[in-house]
Amino acid sequence: MENALVDVRNVTKDFYVGKIVVHALRGLDLAVHEGDFLSIVGPSGSGKTTLLNLMGALDVATGGDVRVFGRQLSTLSRRKRAELRLKMLGFVFQAYNLVPVLTARENVEFVLELQGVGSERRDRATSILEELSLGELVDRKPSEMSGGQQQRVAVARAVASRPRLVLADEPTANLDSKNAEMLLQMMRQLRDEQGMTFVFSTHDPLVVSYASRVVTLRDGTVVSDESKN
Ligand SMILES: Nc1ncnc2c1ncn2[C@@H]1O[C@H](COP(=O)(O)OP(=O)(O)OP(=O)(O)O)[C@@H](O)[C@H]1O
Ligand SMILES: [Mg+2]
Repeated sequence: MENALVDVRNVTKDFYVGKIVVHALRGLDLAVHEGDFLSIVGPSGSGKTTLLNLMGALDVATGGDVRVFGRQLSTLSRRKRAELRLKMLGFVFQAYNLVPVLTARENVEFVLELQGVGSERRDRATSILEELSLGELVDRKPSEMSGGQQQRVAVARAVASRPRLVLADEPTANLDSKNAEMLLQMMRQLRDEQGMTFVFSTHDPLVVSYASRVVTLRDGTVVSDESKN
């Protein structure tokens, strides 16, 4: 489909556990469009994390075709996939994954450094944290922040290089509803003001209520795809 940021076509993913094959994805189709605020839902084991990992070039499909920004991932080397992840994508995981010995600002700076940003990275890190109303946390280490604050810093870090696409696997799983709401408002601000596209998996009805589109998986395929508003 035209202008799809991510195009997943007839994708299968098998995992081998000893001699047993688990068919995690079974011929799944999904096109993600610019500006989507897309929530992937479905029972435990339905394939949400597997799908996000494929879209994020963290893993490779067994069959079918995954295109991200028009590039067919199966044709890319491991190194090219790593480069695509670093330069074009933002990731948010359930367990915030901040570096414990670094402050919030240093965590953001660290990722900008990996992305090749030069001496302006300190200012860039400060400004993204301030823009997302996290200015008072810049000098705090993860152990000095609440879970909600850590997750908001993790989102700031994921978007510091202005990726076009942010993938989040159960981003609110460890948060209470107030913190979850703050996180969602922040992500929606980034979508509305900067046109970033978000895809998140969730079991959380609050997250679903914020989504512009809800895709339901069951047994490794899409069983419904609903756009709201
Ligand atoms: N590395 C792996 N090795 C073997 N099986 C796996 C692996 N990863 C996932 N699976 C299996 O693939 C299926 C889909 O798993 P997946 O983690 O994508 O589900 P999910 O929808 O994210 O579930 P949850 O809501 O519990 O996070 C499950 O049957 C799971 O056991
Ligand atoms: Mg999962």
